[in-house]
Amino acid sequence: MTENFSVKLEEAKYYTPEVRCREQSWMGNYNKTYQAFLADPDGFWDNVARELEWFQPWSRVKEWDYPYARWFLNGKLNITHNCLDRHAHNQRRNKVALMWRGETEDEERIYTYRQLFQAVCRFANGLKSLGVGKGDRVCIYMPVVPEQVIAMLACARIGAVHSVVFGGFGVNALNQRIRGTNAKVVITADVTYRRGRAIPLKNIVEEAVVNAPSVERIVVLRRDTDKPVELHPEMEVDYYDLVDGESRECPAEPMDAEDPLFILYTSGTTGAPKGIVHACGGYTVGTYYTTKHVFDIRDDDIYWCTADPGWITGHSYGIYGPLLNGATCLIAEATPDYPTPGTWWDLIEEYGVTIFYTAPTAIRMFMRVGEEWPNRYNLSSLRILGSVGEPLNPEAFEWFYHTIGKDRCPIVDTWWQTETGMHMLTTMIGEPMRPGFVGRPIPGVVADVVNRQGKPVPPGTGGLLVIKEPWPSMMRTVWGDDERYRKYWETIPGCYTAADLAVKDEDGYIMVIGRADDLIVVAGHNIGTAEVESALVSHDAVAEAAVIGKPDPLKGNTIKAFVILRDGQQPGEKLKKDLIYHVRMTLGPIAIPSEIDFVQSLPKTRSGKIMRRVLKAQEMGMDPGDISTLEE
Ligand code: WTA
Repeated sequence: MTENFSVKLEEAKYYTPEVRCREQSWMGNYNKTYQAFLADPDGFWDNVARELEWFQPWSRVKEWDYPYARWFLNGKLNITHNCLDRHAHNQRRNKVALMWRGETEDEERIYTYRQLFQAVCRFANGLKSLGVGKGDRVCIYMPVVPEQVIAMLACARIGAVHSVVFGGFGVNALNQRIRGTNAKVVITADVTYRRGRAIPLKNIVEEAVVNAPSVERIVVLRRDTDKPVELHPEMEVDYYDLVDGESRECPAEPMDAEDPLFILYTSGTTGAPKGIVHACGGYTVGTYYTTKHVFDIRDDDIYWCTADPGWITGHSYGIYGPLLNGATCLIAEATPDYPTPGTWWDLIEEYGVTIFYTAPTAIRMFMRVGEEWPNRYNLSSLRILGSVGEPLNPEAFEWFYHTIGKDRCPIVDTWWQTETGMHMLTTMIGEPMRPGFVGRPIPGVVADVVNRQGKPVPPGTGGLLVIKEPWPSMMRTVWGDDERYRKYWETIPGCYTAADLAVKDEDGYIMVIGRADDLIVVAGHNIGTAEVESALVSHDAVAEAAVIGKPDPLKGNTIKAFVILRDGQQPGEKLKKDLIYHVRMTLGPIAIPSEIDFVQSLPKTRSGKIMRRVLKAQEMGMDPGDISTLEE
């Protein structure tokens, strides 16, 4: 898509929450806070950082050497000290930190801050005994279980850099990510459960570590502790053996604010996925601040973010942000509609969830099955609703607001990215909400909608969403490929370009329309066209492939593939199934095309680049725009 469009801004329809919401919020008045930030940006962040505990204070808030920023220079801290020790050694020690629910009712585990602290320390000591230390990379490929969280925190505790890979990725995707970081250890589980079935994970790891020579050890968590799992002793160790006898104390490694905290892969528009690198200090400050203010979190909140920790949302708002705020967090392995479409509402009722953060895809799925499902449950504990990952269309907003929030709960639609680490745009609690619009930049962030020259566009005119000033939790680089980092700052002079198309209204509220590049957001997950295409081309029958995103009322987009077969290959249903299976195995189930067309040729530029927008325009019956570079 390009930014050459405009949106007719109808009479603005706002929902205005009770004044009480604003008066009682941590932030208070949005405009006032925003102005205070603009008047003294460094002072603003300095104050936020002071709310956390540092082993050594910073000497300067930031150093901006375009496009590289360093934050809290010379400051020393450990994020887990702030997530755990700060609470476990104080009045929150017996407060519940983490509640985990498996697919069935009888699978439940609860950790207080003291218990979580101890579990993390024991596993951190276990990792040390395997020779893992500061700066080493550890790949975590696990289901949503407490040990997934413990593993992440244990790495951070000792300064190892975690790289979590979502459990829905397949062999090649995992192999690529392990090799990308040269991970020393991979942490996994024997199986994950989905819709009542056990799906093996360890087998995938075994295949994925072939040709990944950096891997020294694989730690395997047994889901069913009564069932032995066959381990290959030269490489594999049992999670429980590893922690057995380890001390419940492990000193937190003092990390420099600019040391890497983790790497998280996200799809790129071309080529291999990008390992986004986040730094210890800025990420801690950014996620702490946004969780506190955007969700207006309180000590008695029961907070549930439905994202898997394998994604950035799970990192920042499933784990780090809420724990930094001493919150009680629910995590669940539960699929939204298994065993019934009431499962999630049941969890909200049972645990008394007060803050519920989820994705538009899930909301639209629930809309489709009907309001009789949520209406069976008591959702009166809910106080604040959140949305992330894709545009929350007005219909979904309305449904979420009325049916789930019962017209009482503010909705925070949060726009941000793996690269930004923290929320960037939203409508702060208490401000009027405009369905279809995420809202304005949060205090601390300078954002705008501009044209290719970097000039702000007038209300209603399409443009690119950009960030104009550095922020603490911004990505520091792309692991092993700094050139790709620079690109983010080079598309539009002086700005970080998010590659999202957007429109502003007269009040500065921003509507995010979708991607300006070849990324496809499917059910809130970013999929790179290049990744799917190369998975298809790696099948023997395929000569060439191009994929596009096709708008879908439920998932936002689905993937459609156009495939040129090699000579002598027979197109047909059988081959379509083979190709889908092949993508499922190599890249993972989240990336499979919903449609495959066999074609004789693909539209290309004279230099040989596939013009996906032409395919897309054809598919949608739209004008393909400028096709002067199209080959014959
Ligand atoms: C999209 C997820 C509209 C957007 C946190 C962005 C959104 C990409 C929203 C980043 C939102 C995220 N409204 N679109 N509230 N939030 N997006 O890296 O296209 O997985 O660029 O981070 O998701 O996806 P990522």
